[in-house]
Amino acid sequence: MIRRLVAYRTGEPTQVLSVAELPDDPPPGPGEVQLAVRAVGLNFLDVSLCRGEYPVRPDPPMTPGVEAAGRVVAAGAGAEQLLGQEVVACPALPRGALGSTVTVDAAVVVPRPSTIDPTIAAALPVTYQTAWFALARARLTAGETVLVHAGAGGVGIAVTQLAVARGARVIATAGGPAKTAVCRDQGAELAVDYTSEDFVAAVRDATDGGGVDVVVDPVGGDVLARSLDCLAFEGRLVTVGAAGGAPPPVDPGRLIAANADLVGLSWGSRYPWRRPEQVRAAYQALFDLCGSGAVRPPVSRVVSLPQAPAALDELAGRRTIGKIIVRLDEKE
Ligand SMILES: NC(=O)c1ccc[n+]([C@@H]2O[C@H](COP(=O)([O-])OP(=O)(O)OC[C@H]3O[C@@H](n4cnc5c(N)ncnc54)[C@H](OP(=O)(O)O)[C@@H]3O)[C@@H](O)[C@H]2O)c1
Repeated sequence: MIRRLVAYRTGEPTQVLSVAELPDDPPPGPGEVQLAVRAVGLNFLDVSLCRGEYPVRPDPPMTPGVEAAGRVVAAGAGAEQLLGQEVVACPALPRGALGSTVTVDAAVVVPRPSTIDPTIAAALPVTYQTAWFALARARLTAGETVLVHAGAGGVGIAVTQLAVARGARVIATAGGPAKTAVCRDQGAELAVDYTSEDFVAAVRDATDGGGVDVVVDPVGGDVLARSLDCLAFEGRLVTVGAAGGAPPPVDPGRLIAANADLVGLSWGSRYPWRRPEQVRAAYQALFDLCGSGAVRPPVSRVVSLPQAPAALDELAGRRTIGKIIVRLDEKE
């Protein structure tokens, strides 16, 4: 028997997710591997999935969990070389990783260096890859200034660490003084509490009126619309999420006036399949940056499988900092 978090309907995570005891999964098919899951990183998109608000809406029963570290315990035809390996992977929905085993496409599996603990490795696949590709799509170069919203969250911290590692200046926004302190600890030169301060004015002040070269926005809503007022000449705004709700329509005239780029990024649903070589190269770079200490996955808490729905409710309620990791190979 295996244990797995399953949702049969949509709603808030604690309302719809429960631990199910299920028969063992069937053997993996050709080109697939089955992992004994060790650790899973929780993401805001798990909340969106439970609510039925994520652009991908898998039919129930649905198991969330899109970033995992585990050991390959079974391999289908063509994937035998991975048998026994410790790996990281992004499972494809609706077969998420929040359970004792998960079956994934071997093409999205990457060996985990033994120097990186599974708890740390489980924070990398979606969070840091998204930050990595956001900065790539933004064409960030050393010496430029980046504004990142939700700067104490999973993606926000990853963007800050990677931007600092590339020699950029970072301005972060976050909700409340505890979170702005975290942003500064992570390397932000300036952290603005956007629940009590006008971040547009703060950015203007900090850049002598010139604005920032790049905005990475995981929040959406009005924050995205107002971020356009923060851009420098030929600035780039990468929208990666809408934790704060759908943004209002953007008038193209504002992009023309600012000579600005507005760029969308959906990493998990596209890049591992459309750009596998770039994704593997990014994993290697992220593993190396972990080794050098430039990347420090911000694991604030480790919880068990039954505790995961409550942890997702906290994520939805803006009460988390950094990453919460679910461990499955330890006594629950
Ligand atoms: N495009 C992609 O490929 C991709 C990949 C991963 C994640 N994402 C997106 O990136 C965003 C951040 O994801 P994450 O997992 O790293 O989450 P997170 O940043 O750890 O948590 C979400 C944060 O968003 C901020 N927020 C603002 N308004 C909110 C609201 N109304 N409700 C809840 N949170 C609100 C909160 O920070 P403050 O309190 O500081 O405002 C909250 O802590 C999500 O929208 C997610 O869907 C996109």
